[in-house]
Amino acid sequence: MTPAPSEAPRRRPAQPLPGARLCALSDLADPGAKGFLFREGDRLFQGFVVRKGDGIKGFLDRCPHAGFPLALVPDRYLTREKDLIICASHGALFRLDGLCIGGPCAGARLLSWPVGLDQGWVVAA
Ligand code: FES
Repeated sequence: MTPAPSEAPRRRPAQPLPGARLCALSDLADPGAKGFLFREGDRLFQGFVVRKGDGIKGFLDRCPHAGFPLALVPDRYLTREKDLIICASHGALFRLDGLCIGGPCAGARLLSWPVGLDQGWVVAA
């Protein structure tokens, strides 16, 4: 069944098209995370993916607190223990499913970026 237009996923400016290869799964530590930046004209799309085992999730790289990118150092999205996502700006902590469990935006969620796996590749979905 095709979703109604209002239910169709919205592609953000510069967001990679479904099926676009982002990186090899083996490029990601387990657990690990990696950021991506795409440009389309003067529009940018910033996202990151988190791997745990064979599971992969993607998020927009935008903190729900103040809208800043989460990592100040490239690809450093996880805590030292690698069990939580951390925002470097003001220390918000998120579960790996994107729910903020501590900090200035507790209870908020990171916005999802649909990604998946295809024959060993992390792909946009
Ligand atoms: S911008 Fe992320 S905690 Fe403030």
